Amino acid sequence: MHVFDVILIFTCLSSCSAMKILVYNPMFGFSHVKFLSKMVDVIASRGHEVTSFQPFHFDLKNTEGLIKNKNATVINYYPTNFKELQKNENFDYSKFWESSSQSNPLQETFHFPKTIANAFEKTSAEIMLDTKLHQNLRSKNFQVVLYEPFDVTGLYLANLLSIPAIPVLSMVRFDIETLFGAPSTLGYVPPDGSMTPPSRTLFARIEGIFRLNCHRLKRRLMFGMQTSNLERALGHELPDWRVLMADTPLMFANANPYLDFAVPTTDNVVRIGGITMNLKRKNEEAVPEEYEKILAERERTVLISFGSVVRSFEMPERFKSGVIEMFHNLPNTTFIWKYEIDDPTLQSRLPPNVHLRKWVPQPALLADERLSLFVTHGGLGSTMEVAYTGKPALMIPIFADQPHNAVMLARHGGALAFDKFDLADGGKLTATIADLTENQEYAENAKMLLEVLRNQPYDPKEELLKRLEFAVKFPKHRSFRPEINQLGVIEFYHLDALAVILITLLLFLYVFTKFLVFLISKIVKNKLKKE
Ligand SMILES: *[C@@H]1O[C@H](CO)[C@@H](O)[C@H](O)[C@H]1NC(C)=O
Ligand SMILES: *[C@@H]1O[C@H](CO)[C@@H](O)[C@H](O)[C@H]1NC(C)=O
Repeated sequence: MHVFDVILIFTCLSSCSAMKILVYNPMFGFSHVKFLSKMVDVIASRGHEVTSFQPFHFDLKNTEGLIKNKNATVINYYPTNFKELQKNENFDYSKFWESSSQSNPLQETFHFPKTIANAFEKTSAEIMLDTKLHQNLRSKNFQVVLYEPFDVTGLYLANLLSIPAIPVLSMVRFDIETLFGAPSTLGYVPPDGSMTPPSRTLFARIEGIFRLNCHRLKRRLMFGMQTSNLERALGHELPDWRVLMADTPLMFANANPYLDFAVPTTDNVVRIGGITMNLKRKNEEAVPEEYEKILAERERTVLISFGSVVRSFEMPERFKSGVIEMFHNLPNTTFIWKYEIDDPTLQSRLPPNVHLRKWVPQPALLADERLSLFVTHGGLGSTMEVAYTGKPALMIPIFADQPHNAVMLARHGGALAFDKFDLADGGKLTATIADLTENQEYAENAKMLLEVLRNQPYDPKEELLKRLEFAVKFPKHRSFRPEINQLGVIEFYHLDALAVILITLLLFLYVFTKFLVFLISKIVKNKLKKE
């Protein structure tokens, strides 16, 4: 080997292999932050230099320990009005218990983008105007910015710093995939915000078209409003977010093809669902001592948790009554309910088979053989956790992508999706939980899904790292992006071609009919003459 080659290889080992990556990780929604932080860990564990830039849109709590890898750098960015943010209650999520975005998507279409744009406005403007910050970030020579297409500031910041930006979805899908060339999933997945099985009935198909367009409008308004806010703060126009966003060789989505619906997609939509899971660590985490006693009380134990965003204690009274009725109806089952406050009034209404806990060791409990069922809101984190422990689940989605996740998991036969408004119906809830705990089919199907996930022929972490490393090397590579998606609606659906074909056919039919009429009249005339 030539000396020069050795030097080349050596420089490559020390510089080419370690990438410098900026993750734009806004503090606004806990599940989003959790996923992006896990992604930081995975990338850092490969030896890359990762910086998590964390602008605070809210005074989001409990985010400190989310990034575990000490090699990752964290930059917290506080807006000048942060003291005010600390005084305000973050965001009132309790209203989502009653929200009917499931039955009225139009309301959410116009309400949600405004809420988001207002919440991001101040911090985002300060980020875009902070030249000191830009200098600092420039000096680090990042090769790529990873951002979630939710807060567009990450995209515009990357554009300002002239760094390629790659979108990352902490959800399974957000209909953003079409920007990168993937076909529409209309009819393949439940309509956005609904638990109607896709396409099966005429009503479902109409609902699908309606909700898809609401969703697209919502997305457009959400990014459009954020962009106008930034333009106002900067005093000049910004490039179209659609053009900037689409300028990427790939996007990452927190979807797993073995869990997800079967959807038409393109190879640049990289599905990395599962990077937050660790199949090897199973059983290592034993449940804390106090739970040993609880799990031994009765033959069956059920865990109920609606997550940390929409909280159990804020549940409407009629839902609580339904849940309590169910507890009384199933005295031979022990229930552990994540309930965030001390509530003597509620406690006095509970039978002895119920244990309230402000916090629960969810992964350890799910991994425990003695736990029979998980009742969950179906946040994607919990959905993945229950799928990866092979436990049956009752999915009771509250808002956002939760209905989608519920139907996605239920499709595999180990879980059921349940309408949150039916929580008021104690009898129905009792029957559903009894069915899930007594009918062994659910447990078997859930175990089968776990086996499938264990044996999936690719490793989501490897997929993330390899595809990211490749994208950093070839940021302009576009071969996975179909050209047809850059054309208009008429071209996409071949409407012009279909029109030409149809007109030609009609013309042909017309001429042919005329000819036939002419021929027949000729024959008839001849006949008449002969007679
Ligand atoms: C952190 O970086 C050092 C030096 O590159 C490496 O030896 C160590 O394994 C890394 N730690 C983790 C947790 O990735
Ligand atoms: C609970 O278990 C006891 C003892 O096995 C049994 O007698 C009783 O009928 C059960 N109750 C219900 C509601 O299933």
